Amino acid sequence: MRRLRTGRIREMLAETELRTSDLVYPLFVDESIQSPVEVPSMPGVHRLPLDSLTGEVSEICELGIPAVILFGIPSAKDRVGTHAWGRDDVVQRAVRKIKRDFGDEIYIITDVCLCEYTDHGHCGVVEGERILNDPTLEILGRIAVSHVEAGSDMVAPSGMMDGMVQAIRSSLDREGYSDAGIISYAAKYASSLYGPFRDAADSGYAFGDRSTYQMNPANTDEALNEVELDLKEGADIVMVKPALPYLDVLYRVKERFRVPTAAYHVSGEYSMVKAAERLGWIDGERVMHEMLLSIKRAGADIIISYAAKEFSKLAMDGSV
Ligand code: PBG
Ligand code: ZN
Repeated sequence: MRRLRTGRIREMLAETELRTSDLVYPLFVDESIQSPVEVPSMPGVHRLPLDSLTGEVSEICELGIPAVILFGIPSAKDRVGTHAWGRDDVVQRAVRKIKRDFGDEIYIITDVCLCEYTDHGHCGVVEGERILNDPTLEILGRIAVSHVEAGSDMVAPSGMMDGMVQAIRSSLDREGYSDAGIISYAAKYASSLYGPFRDAADSGYAFGDRSTYQMNPANTDEALNEVELDLKEGADIVMVKPALPYLDVLYRVKERFRVPTAAYHVSGEYSMVKAAERLGWIDGERVMHEMLLSIKRAGADIIISYAAKEFSKLAMDGSV
């Protein structure tokens, strides 16, 4: 076996190739700041003001990254998340600006959820401490339409409400946006790896946790059911999230359905590598590359990662 492990033949026989064009870079757009603010628990990741978007997206395009996923941080929150769907709210303005400056040079995905916009921080409408499913659906449809109206190419419902894909698909179709796609966070687990994201997006919750709507980490059959339902409801791409601790789920989803499949390499997965790198305990670049490659190998067609820019720089230099 070792004959093929040395020299150029080694790379010729590589079975999996991670490409910059597999990656999606997350952007946090904050309505209340004047200049970029680094997220303390995510070295290298910044909240951006609207004015910094053009510079940031230029860099992303130059690196060859084909897509971004946008998260908004509004200046005001309320009970139902009113600032998630206004024409002049943060995500809608961000999308219009990027579309105006870059057109089809960058593919825009927008996260559709309520947690960044509600004062209680949950992903749905609440009654007491219950998170209501069906009353949330109509709002998700409205948010999705407002994103696509602004120019978003694809919406990404992340709230794990039952029926969210169908509600969004029919709202979009009704408004004449049948070309806009849906990438569904289909198998999203109630993970402890979202902590740094909640700092970044200011989306921590006031009570309880997300375990009544996000999946139990103990389950895999349930993930297959979630994916099947979302596909029936009209999802174009299905997602597994987080990535590394759920590679078995990702693998089964890809094997079973053979549809475009994404994985979200989440904030905590990124931060752990950065922390260990800072301590001098691991080679952060190499570890990050190995992790992204493993996500691809397990079956992801698309990977959402905070490490997208650093990977694409390495790929450009020819070092990976
Ligand atoms: C909001 C949302 C979350 C993430 C993406 N969309 C957080 C959550 O569900 O609490 C997590 C992303 C990450 O950790 O990088 N619904
Ligand atoms: Zn949410």
